[in-house]
Amino acid sequence: MSVEPQTRRLTAIDIGSRKGGTPIVSLTSYHAHTATIMDPYVDFILVGDSLGMVMHGLESTVPVTLDMMILQGLAVMRGSKRALVVVDMPFGSYEESPAAAFRSAARIMKETGCGAVKMEGGVHMAETVRFLTQRGIPVMGHIGLTPQSINTMGGFKVQGKTEASIAAVMADAKAIADAGAFAIVVEGVIEPVARDITRAVAVPTIGIGASPDCDGQILVLEDMLGLSPRVPKFVKKFGNLGGLIGEAISAYADEVKARTFPSPENVYKVKAAATTEPGSTPKA
Ligand code: KIV
Repeated sequence: MSVEPQTRRLTAIDIGSRKGGTPIVSLTSYHAHTATIMDPYVDFILVGDSLGMVMHGLESTVPVTLDMMILQGLAVMRGSKRALVVVDMPFGSYEESPAAAFRSAARIMKETGCGAVKMEGGVHMAETVRFLTQRGIPVMGHIGLTPQSINTMGGFKVQGKTEASIAAVMADAKAIADAGAFAIVVEGVIEPVARDITRAVAVPTIGIGASPDCDGQILVLEDMLGLSPRVPKFVKKFGNLGGLIGEAISAYADEVKARTFPSPENVYKVKAAATTEPGSTPKA
């Protein structure tokens, strides 16, 4: 019998049950290595479609494809063992109909092994959220500033600034919660409105540019590490990895040019006792 404790991955149900409890910690990751590093500290890892901007230098998330999400979702699943992994449904993969959304979400779940998907949208996506959750696919909602709608929103616009916008974002949150989402990302919503939404819905809210009173928080990893060249106002940089990476690369370049790298400890030497056949290559 094994004495090693089995690591059980957190599930959508675990996250959904955290309403009003200890704040839910989450970050984005698109790679195995960063997933491994964050796994002990976060409750869920979002494989966000922000990978379009962060990994590929795109201007928005609109061009991101299902294949891109599946490839990086797999990498994050390989790198993590404890956190719930949620994979974003990219623009164009779910809006057309609940059936189209089911096909895309089922592909993501089957091909990555992740525990849930996330989709943007409020009242108009509620029917799709219900269709998926009733068919075995846990869905995280995403309301407020929804980056996939940049072309109809006219930019990355903070929501909840007018009476009409407050009513709309509140209706979106309630519709998605009622449709069965296990949690809802609330992005770019003015602070008191994000707080009111958190009080109004029975599922956890995950804030990004929202309110400390949300049931959890999420940030894009590269933004909070100081790796992204431009970040929104709501991002706090918890590190300056961009500066550290620049310093390390500059030191490497100097040593390569000075031929001080590789140094004797970084090269394979011929073993002193090794005997070699005439004409053969010595073993390292
Ligand atoms: O794609 C993403 O990284 C996201 C988060 C910003 C919530 O959706």
